[in-house]
Amino acid sequence: MTGSAIRFDGEVAVVTGAGHGLGRGYALALAERGAAVVVNDVVAERATAVVAEIADLGGAAVAAVGTVATAAGGGVIVQTALDAFGRVDVLVNNAGQLRNAAFGDLTEADVREVLDVHLAGAFFVTQPAYRWMCDHGGGRIVFTSSSAGLFGSPWQANYAAAKAGLVGLCNVVALEGAAHGVRANAILPMALTGIGHDGPPPFPPDVLRDTAAALGPLVPDLTVDRVVPLVVFLAGRECPVTGRVFSVGAGHFARVFVGLAPGWVAPEGATPEAVAARLAEIDDPAGAEIPGSMNDATRAVARRIGRGLGDGPSDGPESRSATSEGR
Ligand SMILES: NC(=O)c1ccc[n+]([C@@H]2O[C@H](COP(=O)([O-])OP(=O)(O)OC[C@H]3O[C@@H](n4cnc5c(N)ncnc54)[C@H](O)[C@@H]3O)[C@@H](O)[C@H]2O)c1
Repeated sequence: MTGSAIRFDGEVAVVTGAGHGLGRGYALALAERGAAVVVNDVVAERATAVVAEIADLGGAAVAAVGTVATAAGGGVIVQTALDAFGRVDVLVNNAGQLRNAAFGDLTEADVREVLDVHLAGAFFVTQPAYRWMCDHGGGRIVFTSSSAGLFGSPWQANYAAAKAGLVGLCNVVALEGAAHGVRANAILPMALTGIGHDGPPPFPPDVLRDTAAALGPLVPDLTVDRVVPLVVFLAGRECPVTGRVFSVGAGHFARVFVGLAPGWVAPEGATPEAVAARLAEIDDPAGAEIPGSMNDATRAVARRIGRGLGDGPSDGPESRSATSEGR
């Protein structure tokens, strides 16, 4: 069952960092399915080349050359969509770069530049797009997180922190946007695009070996076109989900989530020694539930300690039991 075609006729999509790699793939696919596309990139030739490719294929696109990393830059990117096409229905926050180093060696510039582009940049482009969407019946926003952020990756503390932060941002945009028809989801993509290949070695030799060994079997499948379908789906008018995180790459599509494990309820307070004694229970993710918001998590704790007031309305996109391990 494949359902009806996902089309974007009459709609406008903004893709940041769309001059290369994954962003280029999203821009081309969205244009092919009828969207007018704003192709942002900080490298002018990249953005204009993708605009030309879309035009050659009969699509509509304009370049927005500049950085996502400032409020002014984000404003210009969204204003480009409004000036050229009069609306913004889809935003894919994708722009990014790497500045890897051992945690102890990261410079202030390494930290700030990566947080600025990935995390602050997503704030600065999303805010003006979100405001317009809220005033005009809604829209769809995709944030680009990473397995490095949610699962950890040595030499990538700056990148991982930014990418984990994007999930926090996505959670709140999904919660606040629900009343306005705005849906927001995040992805953890995998594709060989060359990101980080123009700088110093991205990992120390032992981690590089481990990374190469882990990626090795997947290499033939680590293509951009195996990631694009999820982003097109999440960008679609009928996308039914919000506040989700999905891993996507090499033909594999799967939800990623943060779960609250059943844990241990202390009979009356707890000593540090009792925590030590019950660590196995506290630490066991089996049977975790996935709260849809901070308040859902609080209600789950109240239920577990016997102070639940019933199952009250969930204010999150979802709150339910995970059937497998929490993480
Ligand atoms: N490739 C992967 O396996 C992978 C894995 C996890 C996450 N990601 C994320 O996916 C996104 C795209 O990665 P990619 O692999 O396609 O990389 P890429 O290097 O091929 O493309 C990224 C594009 O972003 C642009 N860019 C960089 N800084 C910018 C800025 N300040 N403003 C506007 N544009 C800027 C670059 O010029 C480049 O064209 C990034 O956010 C990356 O962190 C990629």
